[in-house]
Amino acid sequence: MRKLLLIGIGVGDPDFVTQQAINALNRVDVFFLIDKGDVKNELIAVRRDICQRFIAGDGYRFVTIDEPLRDREAAGYEAAVQDWLDRRAALFEEAIGTELGPEDTGAFLVWGDPTLYDGTIRIIDALVARAKMPFEHEVIPGISAIQVLVARHRLPLNRIGEPIHITTGRRLADGLPDGFDNVVVMLDAGFAAGQLPDADQIDVYWGAYLGTASEVLISGRLSEVAEEIGRRKRQLRADKGWIMDTYLLRRT
Ligand SMILES: C[S@@+](CC[C@H](N)C(=O)[O-])C[C@H]1O[C@@H](n2cnc3c(N)ncnc32)[C@H](O)[C@@H]1O
Repeated sequence: MRKLLLIGIGVGDPDFVTQQAINALNRVDVFFLIDKGDVKNELIAVRRDICQRFIAGDGYRFVTIDEPLRDREAAGYEAAVQDWLDRRAALFEEAIGTELGPEDTGAFLVWGDPTLYDGTIRIIDALVARAKMPFEHEVIPGISAIQVLVARHRLPLNRIGEPIHITTGRRLADGLPDGFDNVVVMLDAGFAAGQLPDADQIDVYWGAYLGTASEVLISGRLSEVAEEIGRRKRQLRADKGWIMDTYLLRRT
């Protein structure tokens, strides 16, 4: 039967690739790469490098799937994301059906950990539900941006006995959630924390391009460093064309 592996590859540094992921990489016939356009080609290059570095021999090939465009102006955010996921699933189904033989193993190299803010598991679940093409699948965990962020800042993610909340920049705009003194923010287009009240009672630990040669870290009292982070982020995005950043907010 066809097999699909969703392999977490960590967030940039090939040293983040686990031994379990390396074993999985060596079972793969076809790697499906998702082309998100010019600016993120660097992320495709990281995936190709990982294969070259960790796979013994050359008995594998790459198939590129073009990322469908997402309507970011649509009024209903959830509906727009669902529509985009559906179109993505159809493209994946076509690529897998065409490129993978009935006994072959295919893989998606998932940035960071496949269980954290990533749509690949949902897409594969959608393919299973459509039941047009039988296959087995497996998820291999990876090192996420959150783990690298706190390690770089030499912090435990939680203080003793305290809960942690993981959210997006969009949701942080409503404020820190009640009962949470530790909040990790991902997928923030701007720097939503810059608008929070009580910024003089919150520490921020920010990291961009974690695990890559372009890594940038800033930390301090939010009221003192928010402007610097916002400015730095705008500059980095302008210079490179894209940015990935994550931060931890911790009430003092
Ligand atoms: C679609 S999510 C993918 C998360 C990923 N699955 C993980 O385990 O980290 C993309 C978000 O992850 C964070 N991220 C991923 N890689 C990063 C990196 N190298 N440095 C900083 N943040 C990163 C950013 O918040 C980015 O907006």
